Amino acid sequence: QPIRAFNTFGMNVKAAFFSQLTDLAQLPILLAQPVVQQGPLLWLGGGSNMLFTQDFEGVIIQNCLKGVQLISEDAQHVLIQAAGGEVWHDFVQYTLQQGWSGLENLSLIPGTVGASPIQNIGAYGVEVKDLIHEVVCADLATGGSEVVLGNADCHFAYRDSIFKQALAGRYLVTAVRFRLNKTFQPRIGYGDIGKALAAMGCADEPTALQVSQAVISIRQSKLPDPAVLGNAGSFFKNPLVPREQAEALLAQHPTLPHYPQADGSVKLAAGWLIEQAGLKGYRDGDAAVHDKQALVLVNHGQASGAQMWALASKVRQTVYQQYGVVLDPEPIVL
Ligand code: EPU
Repeated sequence: QPIRAFNTFGMNVKAAFFSQLTDLAQLPILLAQPVVQQGPLLWLGGGSNMLFTQDFEGVIIQNCLKGVQLISEDAQHVLIQAAGGEVWHDFVQYTLQQGWSGLENLSLIPGTVGASPIQNIGAYGVEVKDLIHEVVCADLATGGSEVVLGNADCHFAYRDSIFKQALAGRYLVTAVRFRLNKTFQPRIGYGDIGKALAAMGCADEPTALQVSQAVISIRQSKLPDPAVLGNAGSFFKNPLVPREQAEALLAQHPTLPHYPQADGSVKLAAGWLIEQAGLKGYRDGDAAVHDKQALVLVNHGQASGAQMWALASKVRQTVYQQYGVVLDPEPIVL
């Protein structure tokens, strides 16, 4: 079964079997199928954080569970649940339209609600962990029984969670419960948000919807639309290096963007390192480093997963040779 339409890199690969889960009641039946039992099994949301380098010799199931419910509210907050297959950006816009804030900085991130806790999506100074109350899962090892993880149980970290580590492949995220605010507390200190708001004429007291608009305009100016140009967002994580290494690099490269972390390490801007290494816009066949954001690798049409991976390896090697910094891929590479 071709799955080109189900991965935003547009990789022209096949899965031995492909199915969609639209009703949670069907999960035990699906899991009992011999082909699923045999595996390997891969769950997919929007396919926006994945690079397929070859055909998948197993079963791919797309999480298409839908539904949004208000669970409870008080004077200050709402607790709202969204099913795993809901489109992330549509859900964010829905909450903002209800007057509930918190997710505005995470506007226009591709993918689904169910994928959001797995890599703890983040942008413009906010991570989804800041708004997640609980994650509702189906335990695939027990036929799909429900397990609810509290925020602390998820071991959230930068682009990481227990779902990528100890529980990788074990739980399917069926729904996420978010605690959102009725009173807007803007977080507009990051990067270009202030500038974008000023350009919109609302720098002083922006609404959550206006912050969302500002984020959308910044993203549209830098990040390629996967519907137009295949990509999986940032291809590398911003590297965390020890303070001493950051200081040595900064002595040589004073303009290197850097963000000291609570644990003493320093996060560096991988996009800057790639650009300064001369690779922004570099193209080999249809595999390229995006010309507006060097952290994003793009498929200009017919690049294979192997070609994308070869480009990623060249970027890693070049950055390592020039700066001694190791870049780790952000998407799942299969
Ligand atoms: N930079 C360059 N050249 C580039 C790209 C970036 O010099 O080609 C510099 C920028 O000038 C800036 C710094 O690097 O000083 C950071 O750049 P930017 O604000 O564009 O963000 P980023 O660190 O490259 C991260 C996330 C993005 C998220 C943005 C905004 C990761 C791996 N990426 O990118 O997330 O949208 O911050 O918060 O943390 C994603 O995960 O797929 C993603 C797009």
